[in-house]
Parts: sequence; C-alpha cells; structure tokens
Amino acid sequence: MCGIYGYIGKNDAYQEVLCGLTCLQYRGYDSCGIAYFDDGFKINKAIGTLDNLPQCSEVVSNIAFGHTRWATNGEVNINNTHPHISFDKEFVLVHNGIIKNADTIKRELIDKGIPFYSDTDTEVIANLLSTLTGRIEKRIERLYKLLEGSFSLIIGHKSGKIYLIKRFSPLNILKSDDGIYISSDVSSLKDGLLYTLKDNDIIMIEKNEIIALSNTKINFKIHENKIKEFTMGKFKHYMLKEIFDTPKGIENTYYYLEKQNIRKIFKHFSEFTLLGCGTAYHSCLIGEIYLSKIVRYKVNSCLASNCEISKKIKRNHLHIIVSQSGETADCIKVAEQIKKHNGKILLITNEPSSTMARMADYKIITKAGKELAVASTKTYCTQVFVFAYISQLILNKRFRLDIQKLKNDLDKYIAKIKVNSLVNKLKDKDKLILIGKDIDYALLLEASLKIREIDYIYTIPMYAGELKHGTLSLIDKDSIVLSLNTSNDKTKLDIVKNEINSRGGEVVAVDELIDMSKFNQYFKPIFAIIPFQLISYYIALKKGLNPDMPRNLAKSVTVE
Ligand code: AGP
Repeated sequence: MCGIYGYIGKNDAYQEVLCGLTCLQYRGYDSCGIAYFDDGFKINKAIGTLDNLPQCSEVVSNIAFGHTRWATNGEVNINNTHPHISFDKEFVLVHNGIIKNADTIKRELIDKGIPFYSDTDTEVIANLLSTLTGRIEKRIERLYKLLEGSFSLIIGHKSGKIYLIKRFSPLNILKSDDGIYISSDVSSLKDGLLYTLKDNDIIMIEKNEIIALSNTKINFKIHENKIKEFTMGKFKHYMLKEIFDTPKGIENTYYYLEKQNIRKIFKHFSEFTLLGCGTAYHSCLIGEIYLSKIVRYKVNSCLASNCEISKKIKRNHLHIIVSQSGETADCIKVAEQIKKHNGKILLITNEPSSTMARMADYKIITKAGKELAVASTKTYCTQVFVFAYISQLILNKRFRLDIQKLKNDLDKYIAKIKVNSLVNKLKDKDKLILIGKDIDYALLLEASLKIREIDYIYTIPMYAGELKHGTLSLIDKDSIVLSLNTSNDKTKLDIVKNEINSRGGEVVAVDELIDMSKFNQYFKPIFAIIPFQLISYYIALKKGLNPDMPRNLAKSVTVE
C-alpha cells in the first residue's frame, strides 16, 4: 500500500512529485506529504488527499520526494504522515512496507534517549539510521541488515543526496531528459530508461547522477509512458470509466491469449489450486467451476490469506494465482511457499512488471488496462474471461470465438443497463441479502463485496436454498433481497421468493432488469456481474460517497 515518488532534475521538483503522487493516490489516501530540498529538507504534510497539500513549495527546488499513505502503523494524523525526519534532522525519508521488528528497535532507541514523535515504523528507520556510525553507505548497508520486514525507501540526507533501498516492496528509477524519477509504481513513470531495483541494491543519486553503492549493475531498459491511463476522460470517476472499459479489456485479453500457447502450459498438469484474495478469489471460484465441472480437472480454490503450503508439491500440480496488481502480500507469501516446496506457479495478472510476475513460472496477462478505482471491476471481468477462454480451449480443440460480437454485445449491453429505481430503493438500507445458486452464488460473493466495499451496506450472499436454514429470520417488511439466476431453471428460486414474500420482504431479480438470456453461457458471468457493479457505483453516488476511494481501503494490499 502507500505510494512513493521522487524527482531530481531541472524542473520544479515539488510540482513533479505532486503530479507523480496523483498517479499513486489509488494506493492510499489517508494522508500525504512532500519533502523538498532548499538548503536542507522542508516538509509539507496534509490529512486526506493531495488536494489538501499546498499546491506549490515556498521556493523552487530541484530535489523532492513524497508519499501517499494507507495507515498501517499508527492512526491517521499529521505526526504519522510521511515524510519522517530523524531526531537529529540528518535524514528525511518515505517508506512503503512494514518493519516487523520496529517495536524492538524503538524500545532500544528510547532506552538510549532518542525521542519519537509518531507511532510509525518509518520514524524508527529514520532514527535508527541516524544513530548508526561510519560512512553513510556503510550505515545504510547496516540499516538494511537490521530491518526485518518489507520496505522500499527514499532516504534524503541533509546534504541533498538521495539514497534508495528496498526489500520485497517495489521501487523503480527512471532516467529521462528532464531528470531522474523514482516511483513505487512503474506505470506512474514517463518515457525514459527504467531500472527496477532489486533487493540488496543500494543506490545513491547525487547531482543528477545515479550511482550504485552495492554490487549492482544498473541495466536500464526502455520504458513507455503509461500515464495516459491515469485520466478519466468523460467520466466522473475511475470506477465508472473502468466498468465501461470492460469490453475493450476483454477484446485485448482475447488477442493476447490467442498468441499464447495455453494448451502447452496445461498439458503438464492434472491438478490445480486456484489462489487469490477478495475479488481475485471470487474469479478463482468461477475458474474452479469452469475447470472442474466443464474440463473435469481436479481443482480447488483457496483464499491466499488463509493458505499455508508446508508439503512438497507434486509435479502434476499447478498453482494458479490470480492477482490484478501482482503485489498482494498474502499472495506473495503463498507464492514463496510454493517455490520453496518445488511447485510451479501460473500467475494471472494485470501488471506484467509486478513482483509476482517476476516469481511466476508461467504468466497470463489480462489486458484490462490500468485499474485505479479501489473496487475491481474490469479486471474481475477479464479474469473470468481468461478462465472461460482456457476451459473452452482445453475442452474443444476447434474452439473459435467471435470476439467482435462479444465485444459489441457487451458495449451495447452496458449502455442499456438502467439501475436508477433499484438504487433508490437500496440506498438507505443498512443490510442486504443476495441469493442465487451454483455459479450465481460465486457471482453474488463478488456483487456483495462491491456493495459492502463502496456503499458500506452490510451484505449477506446466500445459497438460495440456505435462507430457510437460519437467515430467513432477518426478513421483514423492509427487506429487499436481490436474486440472480443466469440459468434457465427458475423453480428453486421461485420457492424461495415465495418464502420471502410471505414474510413481507421483496425480491428483486437482477437478471430481469436487463435481458442476458441470449448471451453465450460461458461468458454470461461477465454480463451478470456488471449490473451489480453499476448498482454499487450509483448507490455510492446517491449516498454522497466517493466510489473510487472507499474509507479504510487501498488498491493493492501489500501488507499481510
Ligand atoms: C476488490 O474490489 C478489492 N480491490 C480487493 O478485494 C482485491 O481484489 C484484493 O485485495 C486482491 O487484489 P489483487 O487482485 O491485486 O491481488
């Protein structure tokens, strides 16, 4: 979580960093801050989004770095906001990650009389570094060894020199005609020459020169600007734009998949474990249904946050990790365990240069385009598309898909969905039950997450037949139950509907809001989830909430 961004060069560094941080704000927006160099570092901080920071510095500086925070250690307040400065003002730093032994180090430093002003592990790093002795590079090397956990750090020394180190958390440097850029997220960087730091690298930037202090060969590669992906175009929010991006994302994913030899990957394996968190886990559940019921593979799905791999993995067993960001800490932890036990990983991700993309044996890239709203929408649809495509491909050697038709159908379908009257009914509810069966239940887990996540409504996804086994007690005359039935068999749901109606509750069949019966059964889950995504988006608007930035959350969960 958190985003870090820096600039050293001929332009106004404060403006460059402010602009860079806007691209990273999706990673955390509890508070933010920028340090800029003017005969020593000066710091501006604010609670909330970057709009609350001073929009320019007091002087034009050529060295600056900043941070946008998702609070982990310590509540959201100015003292806990980055950048953090060491007690003796020698170092200023921003940090992404978690220091596991921060409490122990802090106690030792307090015993030595070092003062602390925040509850963060980041201030511990700054103070620890200041108490180490010797040349700065040696002190940083020592710091690296003393810290446990994950971190990427931009460290500013009072002389104006900048140092970079990282372990697990990503950090990149980009060299361009305008200067040197540093970012925790490659896609926030402009055109230029890119170097992605490796663990153990110690890099110093001094007077526009990048110097490796560790045994590192800095191999730059050409990077193309992806910043245009950070614009919303005609849309008011990223989330709505991203829902409308779905058909294009699916088309692009299809063309990408057509160029891969997917059958070859699957040929080696007969047992599969699908892993992910949150929305990505929900797409695993759809994948499990496709691969087990249609292809008849032996498949199970696991929440990466609740998975422990402690035995040697059989050669015929493939672990498929689904992660939009490729940076989710719970998935990375499982990926490490899989590697440790000689297993193979196929990663399905939207971020080809992510940490997990570097760990995986095989990769499938969803081509959804950058997703910035915290709520996953188009990436979920492309993940489901990948599973539908793979299972069809493996099942049927002659499989051909009319992708243009699918894209056009989706485009027209999304434009036609009308949810306004339902949204008006739902917006003031504090709880909502969603019922369906089989694959629809898996879809409702995702629909429920969307409504919980951005509308703060307590949602209960249920197998329809389970309602009478307890949860029916929640139904009264104010209850609305959303149902989903993408199959042709309506009987079971009709019975449940009667049970709800007789207790005064109302059932709204979301599949009846818009006709999805004519679409290919295998791709129907994509059609079925979109009305729910739109419902959650418009409820948030009616409630005056920002759908792109739900409270307490951030886009990538890079802490366990
Ligand atoms: C869903 O809307 C959330 N953004 C969240 O559940 C997310 O899917 C989860 O944290 C996993 O993220 P990943 O796909 O980047 O691994």
